[in-house]
Amino acid sequence: MQAAALAGPARHHETAYNQIVRGDARSVLRNLPGGSVDLSFWSPPYFVGKSYERDWSFSDWQQLLQDVISCHAHILREGGFMAVNIGDILCFPDESMPRYQANNIRGKVNSVTREQVLEARRRHPDANRKELGRLLGCSEQTVQRRLENNNVRGGKHQTPTKVLLTGCMLAEWAEQVGLYLYDRRIWHKDPCWANSRWHSNSYRAVDEFEHVYIFVKPGIVEYDRQRLSDDEWSEWGSRGVWQIPSVRRNCRHEAEFPEELAARVIRLLSPEGGTVIDPFVGSGTTTFVAKALDRQWLGIDMDSNAVATAVERTHASW
Ligand SMILES: C[S@@+](CC[C@H](N)C(=O)[O-])C[C@H]1O[C@@H](n2cnc3c(N)ncnc32)[C@H](O)[C@@H]1O
Repeated sequence: MQAAALAGPARHHETAYNQIVRGDARSVLRNLPGGSVDLSFWSPPYFVGKSYERDWSFSDWQQLLQDVISCHAHILREGGFMAVNIGDILCFPDESMPRYQANNIRGKVNSVTREQVLEARRRHPDANRKELGRLLGCSEQTVQRRLENNNVRGGKHQTPTKVLLTGCMLAEWAEQVGLYLYDRRIWHKDPCWANSRWHSNSYRAVDEFEHVYIFVKPGIVEYDRQRLSDDEWSEWGSRGVWQIPSVRRNCRHEAEFPEELAARVIRLLSPEGGTVIDPFVGSGTTTFVAKALDRQWLGIDMDSNAVATAVERTHASW
């Protein structure tokens, strides 16, 4: 493992913590002391074509997440948490899926219906499409479209897509190594219109929420009501939906999550002075916030630019 920076006096685990490390999360996590982590909070690549995942197959992506989850069985302390921020994959291409078709019933240039075309063909079984068009007062192309249902947005030649739920996979991989889904929150961000090519025509919703899945390693979970104020408990600590605007600028990292999200997870799920890690640290949001909240911290990323950003940001924390 390659240590990119050391910061501040470490309270324990001096060699491992309070640094940003460049490397593959799997090899770095395997070298951490067992039972030393109170909270691991991370947002992995989502398999949606970002630059750092462009060359991966779906099974590469699954293997990475499964391996990273399995490393947590050893490094989490008993009663410790692994919190994963992830979205569902909204347009997952699936070759094996039968094609579904969208028939936009408003705004057709020609009002001739499929039923009318079928009826005309029944009455004139020898007529070709051009002749049927003449009979119905429409073009040959309209006849063909009505018959083949191929005026389909998304294109009849493109691979159909479906929604892929990520939480089920995470929960399955976690249970395989003895971590259990303890809680989940919805992070309601603002709508991401750019990712929502389909919403206007297909009834698909715009992309406006993600999940935080919270897994526990069985043991004694220490509850401390004083961690949040009464107002904070009622406003978000005990609430299932967190309304936090997403990070709009992309200058630091193309998939940065908001400091407020990290702050809530860290304050809720780790004690002061505890150890918080992020194996996909990106621009260093988790480490920046963890340090500011007086936790020990460790960030890992395989990308050298992300590491440089995380180092600079975490060192600058207040
Ligand atoms: C969704 S981003 C994390 C963004 C971060 N939460 C933030 O606020 O900036 C995922 C990060 O995982 C990193 N990554 C991808 N594969 C990795 C691996 N095998 N080991 C470590 N980091 C990896 C990418 O370089 C990217 O920075």
